[in-house]
Amino acid sequence: MAAVRVRVPAKVNLALRVGETDEQGYHRLGTVFQAVSLGDEVIAEEAPPGEFRLAFQGEGAGFLPVDDTNLAIKAAKALAAHVGRGDLGVNLMIRKRIPVAGGMAGGSADAAAVLVACNALWGLDTPHDELHGLAARLGADVPFLLLGGTAIGTGRGETLTPVMSSGTFHWTLALAHTGLSTPAVFKEFDRVSPPQDTEIPVGLLEALRNGDAAGVGASLINDLEAPAIRLLPTLARTLEIGLEAGALGAIVSGSGPTCAFLAGSDAHSVELAEALGVFSGVRALRRAFGPVPGAQVLP
Ligand code: C5P
Repeated sequence: MAAVRVRVPAKVNLALRVGETDEQGYHRLGTVFQAVSLGDEVIAEEAPPGEFRLAFQGEGAGFLPVDDTNLAIKAAKALAAHVGRGDLGVNLMIRKRIPVAGGMAGGSADAAAVLVACNALWGLDTPHDELHGLAARLGADVPFLLLGGTAIGTGRGETLTPVMSSGTFHWTLALAHTGLSTPAVFKEFDRVSPPQDTEIPVGLLEALRNGDAAGVGASLINDLEAPAIRLLPTLARTLEIGLEAGALGAIVSGSGPTCAFLAGSDAHSVELAEALGVFSGVRALRRAFGPVPGAQVLP
């Protein structure tokens, strides 16, 4: 195949409970992921053996590394090594819409998309469980971006159980002026908070099953929200403005700083974006819906 195009979603954590650390310093998590329609696109083209190139368009282009330190290149090389083929190469172009260092797993999403794109481009037919294994070694969020939909994540977040969810949930996403480093937010959590129990609220799962947006909004929980706010205090005001404007729920997404507001409808998400747009602490607004599928080859 000469070129393959893959679309991949971003994620919002509807619940993110942070427990103890393991031997490697990773935290035991209990999380509920929802894949949302704000996504990136990866175009993979054939390249000469051993050549792995990467370029970006859109969000963060010009700032993101395009060398071997980028998870997208690591993903392509990991797949080539997994199948033991030294004759493979790829030219990757990533169209970014997912905020960079925003707590929506943009880098992990690109890695998941690259695994799917290279698997198709190189005609490998790698079984799903092997792709999942490669994804988990690349990062805790990468497996979920392969799967998509709604799922509980345990372990480091890589052990997934799909969750029943009805209907469509509408989100307004408020992007901040700066990014937050995920390790820094976990460190701030460790500095102040004792490990939490990693239980997922039963009410959240019930509300998802019933397509009850108000119920989902009321049960959103993120143990990383307080540490993210300590590192970037304007987030507290951002969350407040969305709630004052009638959001069904407001939460820092993952390790932040993107704030996610649950709306009752598409029209309501426009209203929330208008209310948040006047606050100087917000760089940009996006609207999205979920759940959506994981990384998929486009026709
Ligand atoms: O897995 P990933 O590389 O995306 O994680 C980024 C960082 O987030 C890790 O280096 C670690 O500091 C922190 N992390 C953690 N516990 C997890 C997942 C991530 O402490 N379960």
